[in-house]
Amino acid sequence: MSDRILTVGYSQLVMPQDANVIGTLFGGQMISWMDIAASKAAHRLLKGTKADAAVTRAIDATEFKNPVHVGEWVNFEADIVSLGTSSMTILVKAYAEGRHDERRLACIAEFTMVAVCKKKDGNYEKISHGKQIG
Ligand SMILES: CC(C)(COP(=O)(O)OP(=O)(O)OC[C@H]1O[C@@H](n2cnc3c(N)ncnc32)[C@H](O)[C@@H]1OP(=O)(O)O)[C@@H](O)C(=O)NCCC(=O)NCCS
Repeated sequence: MSDRILTVGYSQLVMPQDANVIGTLFGGQMISWMDIAASKAAHRLLKGTKADAAVTRAIDATEFKNPVHVGEWVNFEADIVSLGTSSMTILVKAYAEGRHDERRLACIAEFTMVAVCKKKDGNYEKISHGKQIG
């Protein structure tokens, strides 16, 4: 794995509407927030390039390690850990933060985002982001 080259943070408060049937954070909501954290890292990397945006191509190695409860914060750390031609691999960790306990690693996943640009017909195609590690 390559060196860490860019890290961003993002936080969400878990509200009652985010819960599943047993009252903890719904996994689909967690992945949605992690996708936004990964998008923020991609957004920052792609500043000054010809890319219009980055889209999610793959989500791998997803693990839900600890439940998160309503009323807790979730703090996301998104690290861009490697770069391809159009792609980037972003490791996202989600830490739960309760009122009285230490932070707990709640979820981890590896996102592949691809830089895209808008074509004349309105569709998007991949584009080289031109970024390199180091
Ligand atoms: C993203 C998209 C434009 C890529 O176009 P494509 O012609 O399919 O491109 P490729 O298959 O060559 O993949 C692009 C890059 O992703 C990588 N990639 C493809 N599949 C992958 C996978 N399963 N895991 C990791 N990387 C993958 C390729 O290696 C390539 O990387 P590189 O350019 O750095 O070498 C197209 O697949 C697409 O529009 N997908 C839907 C995206 C979407 O709707 N996401 C949800 C909303 S954000």
